[in-house]
Amino acid sequence: MPVIESVSAIEVLDSRGRPTVKATCALAGGVSASASVPSGASTGTAEAIELRDGDKSRYRGLGCRKAVANVNGPIRHALHGRTVEQQADLDQLLLALDGTPNKSRLGANAILAVSIAFARAFAADRGVPLYQHFADMLGLTPTTLPRLTVNLFSGGKHAGGQVAIQDVLVVPASAKTIDESLAAVFAVFQAAAELGVSEYRVRPLRADEGGLAPPFPSVAVMLDDAVRAITDAKLIPRDDVAIAIDVASSHFYSDNKYTIDGDALDSAGMIDRIALWLDAFPIVSIEDGLGEDDWSHWPALRRRLRGRALTLGDDLLCTNPERIKRAIDAGAADALLLKVNQVGTLTEAGRALALARSAGWRVTVSARSGETEDDWLADLAVGWGADQIKIGSITQSERLAKYNRLLEIEAATRLPLIGWPNP
Ligand code: PGA
Ligand code: ZN
Repeated sequence: MPVIESVSAIEVLDSRGRPTVKATCALAGGVSASASVPSGASTGTAEAIELRDGDKSRYRGLGCRKAVANVNGPIRHALHGRTVEQQADLDQLLLALDGTPNKSRLGANAILAVSIAFARAFAADRGVPLYQHFADMLGLTPTTLPRLTVNLFSGGKHAGGQVAIQDVLVVPASAKTIDESLAAVFAVFQAAAELGVSEYRVRPLRADEGGLAPPFPSVAVMLDDAVRAITDAKLIPRDDVAIAIDVASSHFYSDNKYTIDGDALDSAGMIDRIALWLDAFPIVSIEDGLGEDDWSHWPALRRRLRGRALTLGDDLLCTNPERIKRAIDAGAADALLLKVNQVGTLTEAGRALALARSAGWRVTVSARSGETEDDWLADLAVGWGADQIKIGSITQSERLAKYNRLLEIEAATRLPLIGWPNP
């Protein structure tokens, strides 16, 4: 049973050069491990609160010194010398110490960094790989590796809003391994970069998650270009490489209207627009097709997509068990985008996963647009049996750390890729 010797934290920088929290947890047995936490830009309003300093003279208010001080002060004090039998006990201690419903006192960034650093130290103490430890935490046995969904084109808040929707992702569908998947993605990415030069006369500049962001005139052209890139790479759209999209529509929804491609659509119009894309392109998953508060229309969206594409909730659900329960009851979605930092502890994220699974939902484990070189996400996706993993593009080291970790896990375990979207 691990006994916590000490916890500490420092401020480090994420992939946007913004501060985040890196925590270290040392156990009495001599093992010590660290973890750093990511940060979103297109955040849902129901997310747990990242504590930021608000001092405009430093990092435009984004500093994390207060969150770091909370780890080095009250959290360290509360955990020192504690025997912690399991992750849930540690997380419960942190939640009680915070005492707010949204982790605004200590900060979800402080709490999660400690939660994951402890998990990693615990895994090392047990002498098991982190993915195995994550699996054991929920009583699961890893039998598959997650299917990749990889950002090809970016728009919305990650690319200066040149086009309304946020991500067009490629899903290597016929690949049998992570290794084959990445080679297919590379081929499509190169073809897309060349297409950007020939079609838009732009250098292949990249958005926050590494996706390409040429000035597409419309969403339909963006999707069409993705299909062209797949074909140019000598792969068959849908059979070899399918498409997933993150509409991230909360971010262009106001006064009951979706402002997209020069139109102001009501919710029914937005659903019709999505159905048009589905008819024209090999799309297998639609994330946040409607806004996070447009609850009354989500069931209709799901009925429209059912049997053709996943209705995936990100901002809608915020990895929050209460919101997931509401969505299950309403028939509003059939897939969960799981981002641990949206809810703030591993235990609560595990509860979100169990709830989604109890309703037969698919689960995508996802990175954030602001990431670090830490790779725990890959272990989490494998350990928790995710159907999909969404990390970003294949161009930046904060993304590649996770892809490379998946390659390592694949080499070590020889687990097969999950059969989605092709059975
Ligand atoms: P975020 O975006 O990390 O900026 O919130 C990711 C997503 O919307 O899926
Ligand atoms: Zn999203």
